Amino acid sequence: MSNRSPDILFSNHVRDHPSWSVFEARFQDIYGSGPERMAVLARITDSLADALRTRSTALVELDRARSAAPDWTSVSGNVIYTFYVDRFSQDLAGLIERLDYLQSLGVRWLHPLPLLRSRPGDSDGGFAVADFRQIEPHLGSMDDLAALTTALHQRGMGLLLDVVCNHTAREHAWAVAARAGDLASRAFYRVESTETSVAAWGEHLIDVFPDTAPGSFTHEPEMGGWVWTTFYPFQWDLNYANPAVFIEMLDVLLFLANQGVDGFRLDSAPFLWKREGTSCRNQPEAYRIVEAWRAALSIVVPGVVLLAEAIESIDDVLPFFGQQSPGCDLAYNNGVMTALWGALADEDAGIARTLIEAASVRPAHAAWLNYVRCHDDLIWNALAAYAEPADLKRWSDFYAGGGFSGGRAFQTAPGGVPSTNGMAAALVGLGRDGVDQDLAARRLTLLYGIIHGLDGWPLIYMGDEVALGNDEAFDRDPARRDEGRWLHRPVMDWYKAEGRDDPDRIEGRTFAALRRFGKLSRSLDGLDIRGPARPVALTEKAVLAFERFEGSRRLLVLANLSPRGVVADLPPGWAGGGHDLVSGRDQSGPSIMLEPYDLLWLADRT
Ligand code: GLC
Repeated sequence: MSNRSPDILFSNHVRDHPSWSVFEARFQDIYGSGPERMAVLARITDSLADALRTRSTALVELDRARSAAPDWTSVSGNVIYTFYVDRFSQDLAGLIERLDYLQSLGVRWLHPLPLLRSRPGDSDGGFAVADFRQIEPHLGSMDDLAALTTALHQRGMGLLLDVVCNHTAREHAWAVAARAGDLASRAFYRVESTETSVAAWGEHLIDVFPDTAPGSFTHEPEMGGWVWTTFYPFQWDLNYANPAVFIEMLDVLLFLANQGVDGFRLDSAPFLWKREGTSCRNQPEAYRIVEAWRAALSIVVPGVVLLAEAIESIDDVLPFFGQQSPGCDLAYNNGVMTALWGALADEDAGIARTLIEAASVRPAHAAWLNYVRCHDDLIWNALAAYAEPADLKRWSDFYAGGGFSGGRAFQTAPGGVPSTNGMAAALVGLGRDGVDQDLAARRLTLLYGIIHGLDGWPLIYMGDEVALGNDEAFDRDPARRDEGRWLHRPVMDWYKAEGRDDPDRIEGRTFAALRRFGKLSRSLDGLDIRGPARPVALTEKAVLAFERFEGSRRLLVLANLSPRGVVADLPPGWAGGGHDLVSGRDQSGPSIMLEPYDLLWLADRT
């Protein structure tokens, strides 16, 4: 009896916590209120109590510190860096040695792409996980992960890890058991037994990889039917209609949180729930699932953040921040990112203004992850609700090697326009014959300067800080040549990075600019410049302008998206000019001359 009492204390803490009733309500929204629910909730209470009991004192302290400042996720300048570990530093031990480099760039958080044990052979860059509780052996071990999180916490930094919650590898123990005939494991996946039902579902689904992985089902004779595989045939979608799946994934989150992980990128979150007659993306239950996970984590690991990986139309992304109760703390601002590239091609800020406006309605607790590029393709179709088909086509063509850009087209489902692959440096024209290299360099720093001025966390994609170009040779590697996204997943060029302190080299120029933007962005809280970015229309269409005005000082960001010098008439309220934080100079109004691809962050003078 005496050794039960601490467990009871932990269970009581769970059930007495204000987030428990929120959790129960969300769980009921998803799974109903049948009589079996009590047993399931008791099982979840045990998991949470156990996680609480085993959480280290150091992590509990971190939770306390973060919870003491409830809006800590809105802190300005929380720069995050994303990369494949093997391509950046070979392994986790090598990553620890690169922390000085990252810190000198101003990075505060790391997002390594998947590092849990994946299937052998093609694993979609690690997104086909065979074991959620082990590190991919060639990257290191759980001890290396612990060493990394400890090193990061000592530096005041955080780690965001991918949890590929929508699917597992067909080699995961659950799938192996399912293939061997275990019925409980089979119920973790979705299997259709007839071609008719596959066709009925398929009628409404949109292929993610129509060329390399057409359809959303894979015939698996051992399963006696067709397994749901939204992505590659070896990535089996989990069946969240089965509460056991929800619970297992919650256990995974708790397990990793207790290894010191500070946040989770919920991969492919839009696909978590399937409903007949729909595209099976962004269903209400998918939002409820993240809300339920958020509530559960808030009880025992409140300092851990959730990032929605939802590269969809912004109206489908916003609900991931939570509708019934708080959901994800962070979400990719893919609408604004994509719109910025479109606006840059057109030398017209219109589409960027529209998306910045749409993004400004985020809830107060939520923060955008603002970015220029990532490891995936740039999906123009996600702007379909805000732009004409002709616009999408023009941008898609432009970045597939037209205009100044050195990108390439990527597969798209019928009815859409091809997405774009390529490193940011290549997309702006660096290293491309016939393209003015000074202007190309300005385009790259301009985009990064804009995303650092928006509200949210600025994200740097590995190599962009030294203007790393495409891996044009990827298609000579038989293991990668069929997947166009490897174009923008080069190995980090540490020789190039040596030039980062040389202002006369593109590496030095870019590194210094990004480091400076990080610093400026971090200074905004101190200047009391706050609130969501809100677009301002100017008469000069090439100039993107947005304001942030919820603090005691205002910020007006002005970005010239054209290779020409232009004169921008300042908006009313700024006619007197302001202090440009980027150049450190005062600017007087009512109009301002902007150099080609110039960027100003005008703040109210004190
Ligand atoms: C996400 C990842 C992408 C991966 C897919 C399937 O979209 O970012 O790289 O292919 O999920 O896991």
